[in-house]
Amino acid sequence: MSTPAIAAPRGTRDYLDGDGAALLSCIDIHRRVSSLFGYRHVITPIFEAAELFERGTGTGTDVVEKEMYSFTDRGNRALALRPEGTPGVIRALAADPAVRDIRPYRAQYDGPMFRYDRPQKGRYREFHQVGVEVLGVRDPNIDVEVLHVAWETFSALGIGNVDIRLNSLGSREDRLHYRDELVAYYTPLRDELCEDCRRRLDTNPLRLLDCKTDARHVAAAPILLDGLAADTRTYFHDVQEGLRAEGIPFTVDPRIVRGLDYYCDTTFEFWHSSLNGAQNALGGGGRYDGLAEVLGLPHTPGVGYALGVERLMVIRSELEGIQQGLSPSVLVIALDAESVKHARTCATALRAASVPTALDVAKGKLDRKFRWCERMGVSWCIMCGEDEVRDGQVTLRNLQDRTQERLDMDACIARLAASREE
Ligand code: HAM
Repeated sequence: MSTPAIAAPRGTRDYLDGDGAALLSCIDIHRRVSSLFGYRHVITPIFEAAELFERGTGTGTDVVEKEMYSFTDRGNRALALRPEGTPGVIRALAADPAVRDIRPYRAQYDGPMFRYDRPQKGRYREFHQVGVEVLGVRDPNIDVEVLHVAWETFSALGIGNVDIRLNSLGSREDRLHYRDELVAYYTPLRDELCEDCRRRLDTNPLRLLDCKTDARHVAAAPILLDGLAADTRTYFHDVQEGLRAEGIPFTVDPRIVRGLDYYCDTTFEFWHSSLNGAQNALGGGGRYDGLAEVLGLPHTPGVGYALGVERLMVIRSELEGIQQGLSPSVLVIALDAESVKHARTCATALRAASVPTALDVAKGKLDRKFRWCERMGVSWCIMCGEDEVRDGQVTLRNLQDRTQERLDMDACIARLAASREE
């Protein structure tokens, strides 16, 4: 009996061939754009104390209640794979004496996140986010800046027609007042509600608005935006004015309540017509001025967003002309053992000239090596044999038209550079 093969866990994926490069290219573009705005890269652990998310993201949220990968380690500590980046970044930056005086602190981050979600296209149990957080300042201009970074990222990724859905969740007082309104609206409906919603009505009424089962009740529920106090209304007005001044289009959508507990004031989601409406947003974010205190840290207002890289990839893969990833441009082949040193020197010179180069010094049939190039999308081969070593030259073969020429290394590099510009 043969040993059964082990499959990848449900909801995870392997990034093979061009997919790995496509993922990294999205991450690289976000790093470049946010760096241009002055955001410093931060890296926080992939697992954290489960309590960080229970308190931060919120115990009443689907993310913590139904989707979190929680476990106890061998030292009996309650840990969780991070379902999102924000609480970890705040934990790190609000407490660290080396940075806690730098305000605003502009942070960017990226990496894998984990949610026990129902897998489908663009939705995984391990997925990747890129994001930013700005800490220490409560100012509508910063909210606008954060949206500006996301907007420039979409543009650098070649993704147009992103619909920014903007809302305000107001201040703590606004939400307390609204909570009462929601309870008054939902209480007579209690018997018609799903089990989750009956519990939410008692524990966390704002989360009633996340329900997909009771969507018709959500649609008729009172709207928070209508009851904002004067100062939070002004704040929201200033964010909108700032966006107009930057030429960033948006739609005010009072139904954007987000699925996480920590938000106040400005909240937003990025939608795209290729995805499936609210459940499949490209990204989202907002302001969270009370989060640090909930985590037991000094008061630190903040605002940020995260984008789902797999969803960016779905849209990018539909766009023509997006390079899905770099294969080596050239394969350098040593035709015999005596030519290996020369082949290595050639490969080093090509890499120094920024030409992605693979080296093959193994014994084997030339035909097979050419076939490998075809599979990998490599269009040039450099062959080094006895004659090339003697003359200090190489043979450059164009695998597309099957022509070849003898050149010295400088001419060869110039020839490859010219072909890349063609
Ligand atoms: P979020 O809306 O929970 O916000 O997630 C942001 C994005 O991550 C989603 O819009 C989606 O693109 C992607 N995403 C979420 N779950 C999955 C999944 N199962 N598979 C693939 N992609 C997924 C946050 O995570 C907040 N931390 C954003 C934030 C930053 N707010 C303030 N700062």
